[in-house]
Amino acid sequence: MGIPMASPWALQLTSLLLLLLWRSLGVGAQVSEGFQLHQPQDKVSVTAGETLTLICTTSGYGPAGPLKWLKGWGMGNETVYDQNGVFPRVIRAEPGFYTDFSIYLRDVGPEDAGTYYCVKFRKRFGVDEMFQHGKGTEVSVRAKPTPPVVSGPQHRVGPGQSVSVTCVSGGFYPENIAMRWLKDAASISAQQLRVTPGRTKSSYDMSSSVTVTLQEEDVRSQLVCEVQHPTLRAPLRETFQLSKVLRVPPRVRVVAEPPGPVEPNGTVTFSCQLEGFYPGEVSVTWLENGMEMKVENVSRAVETRRGLFELRSQVELQATVERNGSVFTCRVVHDGQEPLSELAALRVTVPAQEGTGGQSQGGSLLSSPALWLGVLLEKGLLGGLLLCLFKRMMA
Ligand SMILES: *[C@@H]1O[C@H](CO)[C@@H](O)[C@H](O)[C@H]1NC(C)=O
Ligand SMILES: *[C@@H]1O[C@H](CO)[C@@H](O)[C@H](O)[C@H]1NC(C)=O
Ligand SMILES: *[C@@H]1O[C@H](CO)[C@@H](O)[C@H](O)[C@H]1NC(C)=O
Repeated sequence: MGIPMASPWALQLTSLLLLLLWRSLGVGAQVSEGFQLHQPQDKVSVTAGETLTLICTTSGYGPAGPLKWLKGWGMGNETVYDQNGVFPRVIRAEPGFYTDFSIYLRDVGPEDAGTYYCVKFRKRFGVDEMFQHGKGTEVSVRAKPTPPVVSGPQHRVGPGQSVSVTCVSGGFYPENIAMRWLKDAASISAQQLRVTPGRTKSSYDMSSSVTVTLQEEDVRSQLVCEVQHPTLRAPLRETFQLSKVLRVPPRVRVVAEPPGPVEPNGTVTFSCQLEGFYPGEVSVTWLENGMEMKVENVSRAVETRRGLFELRSQVELQATVERNGSVFTCRVVHDGQEPLSELAALRVTVPAQEGTGGQSQGGSLLSSPALWLGVLLEKGLLGGLLLCLFKRMMA
């Protein structure tokens, strides 16, 4: 047993036994007349997360019986500390001094707010009975507001429609809190700030909503919720991108190249141009007379300088005579909305000056009387000439 006896625990036990022995000899009873308990702090304010110091001193030992720290009085009081229990958050400030019963309570939270009493009990017929107590220390816990959380509607809205955005924060003490809304850099007015009692009795929560009417340009705008509280050195800020709740539908155009009617077997390109939309998710399909076509040439949506997107989808096809009058439809589904359709018809025309042109030209010449005359004259002259030559050869 030699080595264990040297441990601090064993030493504490030894001193405790000595103390008990000394008290049982009746020394305490003599001292109790002059016993005074001092709890000097009226009000203490501590910041959440920090350590609370509660001061209690005594003059003399007093009667046999424990000293305790109680929180609250009467029904519902709780023992914060006594010498015999286990209180993980509490340590004695001066464990060696029997006249100092001050304690440290670490990692204070809003729930620790309340009035604390230092109480001396005395043992009477085996039970602890209250002997003296301090006047109570009122503890308020200054708590920082939680980082603000800003939320908007679940669904996007189009330009010209309004959205309501809410900022919440909580768990702060004292109650006085200030907040403001900013859109980009400018302050904007909001509904009144609502401050309500929080989850714990000694903290508060806040909530504030703002309504904004969205415009296309808001794709690059943000709302800022700024919260200021006495416990904060700098205000807390949380931003909300308005692009999260904005939908700008595309402007859709179908353009043919070449723009006019096409010769048979010529190629024509229809391009579907989507401009100024947000978000960038879009699907484009082509229909020929209502039947879906296979299209490979779809560009990716590209972001423009304004923050909106644009996209082009093209179909190249052969203008056969059978396709004359065919209708080509560009169908756009943007962000899960009802489809938008734009269409163009193909016109195939045979040019007037080619194809059967040669025959019709010949026909028109043969129907000219002057030509006939020319031909007859030419043939007559040629006939006369041949006749002359024939007569000379015979001669
Ligand atoms: C504390 O509460 C207990 C019951 O839980 C009660 O018996 C005791 O008298 C109370 N003490 C004080 C000081 O109010
Ligand atoms: C068009 O092409 C088809 C076969 O590709 C051919 O049979 C037809 O004669 C062509 N028509 C014209 C006007 O060139
Ligand atoms: C195509 O259709 C138009 C109008 O229906 C018609 O005027 C034209 O002659 C047609 N073209 C051909 C090559 O059939």
